[in-house]
Amino acid sequence: MSGRFITFEGIDGAGKSTHIDALAKRLRERGATVLCTREPGGTPLAEKLRELVLHTTMDPLTEALLVFAARRDHVQQVIAPAIVRGETVLCDRFTDATFAYQGGGKGVPAALIAHLAQVSHNGLMPDLTLVFDCPYEVSRERLGRTGRVPDRFEREDHAFFDRVRQSYLGLARADAERIRILDATGSVVDIKKRIEEELSTI
Ligand code: TYD
Repeated sequence: MSGRFITFEGIDGAGKSTHIDALAKRLRERGATVLCTREPGGTPLAEKLRELVLHTTMDPLTEALLVFAARRDHVQQVIAPAIVRGETVLCDRFTDATFAYQGGGKGVPAALIAHLAQVSHNGLMPDLTLVFDCPYEVSRERLGRTGRVPDRFEREDHAFFDRVRQSYLGLARADAERIRILDATGSVVDIKKRIEEELSTI
């Protein structure tokens, strides 16, 4: 038996979390066993590393090494076993986030990130990745509405998020089969429809 591994990406504030929860609910109603998880995080160790990465000043390579340490534990303890059990794994961010944030956003070489992916999770990649794409202004407005205190990444400037966004678009161009871009400025109903369409293709 083999499950499905689906990941959700995009700049902070693009609105992916709302859609992950709603999709999990719909899939469960259709009888699927769904595991919802997130990165960095998803295990007790990885959640501790998340806390460090989101709130401690460090250099970009250290950040990349910590997210991969978290990812290795997460894949070993949670993601791989669920896939083997035949479950549908919905994961809020994965290795594409490292390419976009630490790579495109902060200059860690893509070849190094690809190597770290290979050694930390044997190159396991999602079956489908949905990138919620929207301009910086829209994401800021949405983040502002949550009223929460911004973490280290959310405090980055406009230029940083433009680089992260462009990285995601570049990743999607390079692997259009796996990575699909969704216009996150659309209505919740439209985005939901697009998600269902993309899901029906895998
Ligand atoms: P996010 O997924 O947006 O969660 P929340 O909705 O709770 O804020 O936050 C995770 C942050 O971690 C996000 O700003 C991107 C960052 N991140 C990286 O920089 N590299 C990575 O590899 C991952 C997985 C996340």
